[in-house]
Amino acid sequence: MGLNDCHNFQDFRKLAKRRLPGPIFHYIDGAADDEITYRRNTTAFDDVDLVPNVLAGVEEVDMSVEVMGQKLDMPVYCAPTALQRLFHHDGERGVARAATKYGTMFGVSSLATVTVEEIAQIANTPKMFQFYFHKDRGLNDALLERAREANFEVLALTVDTITGGNRERDLRTGFTSPPKLTLESMLSFATHPMWAWNFYTKPKFDMPHLSGYVSEGTNVAVSVGNYFSTMLDQSMNWKDAEELCAKWNGQFALKGIMSVEDAKRAVDIGCTGIMVSNHGGRQLDGSRSPFDQLAEIVDAVGDKIDVICEGGVQRGTHVLKALSVGAKACSGGRLYLYALAAAGQAGVERALGNLRTEIERDMKLMGITSLDQLNRDNLRFRNPL
Ligand code: LAC
Repeated sequence: MGLNDCHNFQDFRKLAKRRLPGPIFHYIDGAADDEITYRRNTTAFDDVDLVPNVLAGVEEVDMSVEVMGQKLDMPVYCAPTALQRLFHHDGERGVARAATKYGTMFGVSSLATVTVEEIAQIANTPKMFQFYFHKDRGLNDALLERAREANFEVLALTVDTITGGNRERDLRTGFTSPPKLTLESMLSFATHPMWAWNFYTKPKFDMPHLSGYVSEGTNVAVSVGNYFSTMLDQSMNWKDAEELCAKWNGQFALKGIMSVEDAKRAVDIGCTGIMVSNHGGRQLDGSRSPFDQLAEIVDAVGDKIDVICEGGVQRGTHVLKALSVGAKACSGGRLYLYALAAAGQAGVERALGNLRTEIERDMKLMGITSLDQLNRDNLRFRNPL
């Protein structure tokens, strides 16, 4: 099986599983507790059916959208994810180039393995910086200023990682960042020699935004759950979010909003966007899926703020369903991470290309030429509440 055999999300997942040492694959693939929310994030889309129109003259379709003031050539973007250098030596550089090629937004994590300055050089496409609110206020200030100096267009404050999720696969595999050299992990590196060769011979793994502030994650091995629980500030509240939004003074989103009440508060503090998200099912298992929760949030704030449906997206039709409900765009991590692990930049390009092709085909089959023609009339819920 090679890259040319990857036609969909599941194909990339299979190839990533082959290429990655077990602990690293399961870090990407795993979620919290019983992983019920993780699965529901995708199956939620199956409870809603599309109702197409025909004879609409669809030889030219336009799938561009505008989100938080950014024009995107396609309605899906790469959500920020941590530690990309671990998955493939192309890491964030590869994802940045692939996102540029497809004219979509690239989210860069505070826990990225490449600097925002370098990404700004590489990625001639809208860029979002994902902000983790640390206990160390000096680090928080430095993160904000670096993202500003590097001309990132959007700042997204993650609000659903106030403590680490219970990722039992990571507990079982002993996954840490940086990877610990235990007997077991050495065995899994030995059975994945290509990955191990690239990891140890290509530029060193680092989380440069943290350098000089915290050594956990780069010099001191910790699990991601542990990092959240010990490094991030659990006292973070609405006042902190409001202050950060004012300090940034630009496009600002809260990432990980699930309730209508919080969505309204996001509007009140001056946000221009929210990601309806449960962090890929990696935090609170049993939390509702973004797609299930989308309609009530759009009804409450959709005319005041850009609502993004984040998580569970594997197909073009998932995107069309979310946009029909009223999301401005969709985003996801695993939708490009398996592809990155499978084949680096070329993998991410193929994953985004597949999605683009699906969306274009699905728009034609739906009888629409632009995405603003989608609405709830072209959806039927199988089990109305
Ligand atoms: C995770 C973080 C780092 O879910 O976003 O692992």
